[in-house]
Amino acid sequence: MLKNTADRFGAVAKFFHWTMAAAFVLAYIVVYYVIWFVDPETSIKPALFDIQPNGALVVPILNIHWVLGVTIGVLVIPRWIWRMINVEPDPVPGSALEHWLARLAHWALYVFMIVMPLTGYLNTYDPTDFGLFVIPAFRDSIVFHWISASFGWTAEQVETPMYAIHKFVGHWVAWVVVLLHIAAALFHHRVRKDATLTRMLPAFASRMPGSTEHSGKEESKDR
Ligand code: HEM
Ligand code: HEM
Repeated sequence: MLKNTADRFGAVAKFFHWTMAAAFVLAYIVVYYVIWFVDPETSIKPALFDIQPNGALVVPILNIHWVLGVTIGVLVIPRWIWRMINVEPDPVPGSALEHWLARLAHWALYVFMIVMPLTGYLNTYDPTDFGLFVIPAFRDSIVFHWISASFGWTAEQVETPMYAIHKFVGHWVAWVVVLLHIAAALFHHRVRKDATLTRMLPAFASRMPGSTEHSGKEESKDR
């Protein structure tokens, strides 16, 4: 089933959720790998696990972070449109506060999926190389040339505040909400033993031994 129903997420929503969740987590892993291990200026000293910093590798590896980030920024548009034109599965039984917190977390995650790619792209002065094509850095784009000609802004006037937002949200906020979101999913699965996680899992995974498959009928009885 491509579309959502009142009981579960459809294949399209699941595809968006899991590819973008993987890209989001990978973007984190890659950037902190560079910051902690590869960049001679920021790496932990003495070198951990004998990984020697190497300045020549910083941009090629960071490029993976940019590719993942830009992909999230592009995919969030069709994902949001799909969410708007679809039914949302009913929340599983729980208190009004729990439902409100889940909604707040989902909104916050959408904000991160928009703000992080945007501020990341606007603060980066290297192009993003997808292999088959290259996206020019914002400072080299037609849009920036127009902004700079119209308002007299320099690239630094755009990049500095964008970097501050990207760094603050990435370093202090986004991962905390993502961890709470994952903890909530596991709490529902393991403690409440309800369908919150299984109805978001791909069909093959929700049939795996140990996962609790719930039918829509059982859920509506509970409600
Ligand atoms: C959802 C997407 C993204 C997430 C979750 C994310 C997350 C982060 C995080 C956590 C940091 C490290 C902050 C710190 O502690 O210093 C960072 C740094 C950075 N990000 Fe992103 N980012 C995303 C997208 C992008 C995009 C699309 C670009 C550019 C095209 C980008 C460019 C950068 C740059 C240049 C840095 C600084 C790296 C350094 O200090 O060596 N990011 N990002
Ligand atoms: C990797 C571990 C993750 C797990 C186990 C997980 C699990 C879930 C589950 C079970 C739901 C359904 C919740 C419900 O029915 O109320 C959900 C929804 C959602 N998740 Fe995650 N998630 C993960 C990572 C992420 C990440 C990294 C993001 C984005 C940064 C994210 C964004 C969302 C959003 C926006 C929704 C709302 C439904 C939608 O519009 O797609 N998730 N997640």
